[in-house]
Amino acid sequence: MNDANLVSSGVEKLQVDEQENILEVRGLKQYFKVKTGFFSSLPLKAVDDVSFCIKRGETLGLVGESGCGKTTVGRSIMHLYTPTAGEIHFAGQKIDKNNLTNLRRNMQMVFQDPYSSLNPRMTVEDIVGEPLDVHKLCKSKQERHERVQEMLSLVGISSEQASRYAHEFSGGQRQRIGIARALAIDPEFIVCDESVSALDVSIQAQILNMFKELQSKLDLSYLFIAHDILVVTYMSDRIAVMYLGKLIELADTREINDNPIHPYTKALFSAVPIPDPKTARKSQRIVLKGDVPSPLHVPSGCAFRTRCPYVTERCSEETPSLTDRGNGHLVACWNI
Ligand SMILES: Nc1ncnc2c1ncn2[C@@H]1O[C@H](COP(=O)(O)OP(=O)(O)O)[C@@H](O)[C@H]1O
Ligand SMILES: [Mg+2]
Repeated sequence: MNDANLVSSGVEKLQVDEQENILEVRGLKQYFKVKTGFFSSLPLKAVDDVSFCIKRGETLGLVGESGCGKTTVGRSIMHLYTPTAGEIHFAGQKIDKNNLTNLRRNMQMVFQDPYSSLNPRMTVEDIVGEPLDVHKLCKSKQERHERVQEMLSLVGISSEQASRYAHEFSGGQRQRIGIARALAIDPEFIVCDESVSALDVSIQAQILNMFKELQSKLDLSYLFIAHDILVVTYMSDRIAVMYLGKLIELADTREINDNPIHPYTKALFSAVPIPDPKTARKSQRIVLKGDVPSPLHVPSGCAFRTRCPYVTERCSEETPSLTDRGNGHLVACWNI
């Protein structure tokens, strides 16, 4: 079953394809209660009815401006938040409170900031070894030591460096240590949340390539979250574009790169400099005006309408849902 069918056939009709899909997110909603006054509060719809799946061995990119809900999708998948509504299935199994520990062993998250996500008072050996202790995966100190050494060599950190502290390392090396830590328990699926955004561009490329090598060596599947469309394009097999809590476009990377349909996706690609002036002139550039509206006051109908150059009356009245425009290229827009 392809994605187009999954989305257009409605959430309740989704079928679990254990063989093909490592992860299925169905109708995920994550609302936060935000205080707006002494006695009043409003629901902040950080994620509002999002569905997608990730195939085994695949990288799905999740892209969108800051504040559109990407991190919340990642954290909800990891069940760091309990979803307001919707279901998450991992390898055909619905994730709930009862099987959380077991599933956490198979899923890990690599965060953006390697400076704050690693405890500066712990040695590299203990940082990488900690998840092994939590999940009681090693029978002896020796076994733990060997496993840590194996992980460090996978990410290009030498064994002599294992006794050093995290603060002694550069940003790129810290991110390598963070990745070794995520890999220690041998997960099948990793959420990478802005995992290279805090690094210099030259270091970014090294870490991105390492993610790719690790993927083929260890049969990993990734949800690759970033606001940088170039990074997401480089890493992903398919790309999902998010705006104010909703997916607005989802397609194969090549397809969405060559033929972005939603005006928001076009704008994201327009912001990337094109080296060849001839191609640049041919392509239709859309420059985004203004900021993303507050998620506490999401515009009615299509949330993008307040910034859209093609807005019509219908856009404020009805919310467009993702529909297949051919070859599984899903778009939520009334006018394009
Ligand atoms: N724990 C929380 N409580 C309240 N609001 C939150 C919480 N986490 C995120 N948000 C809000 O949800 C929206 C989406 O945030 P986030 O998922 O971090 O976006 P992104 O990762 O795309 O930048 C933002 O408006 C953010 O302020
Ligand atoms: Mg984020």
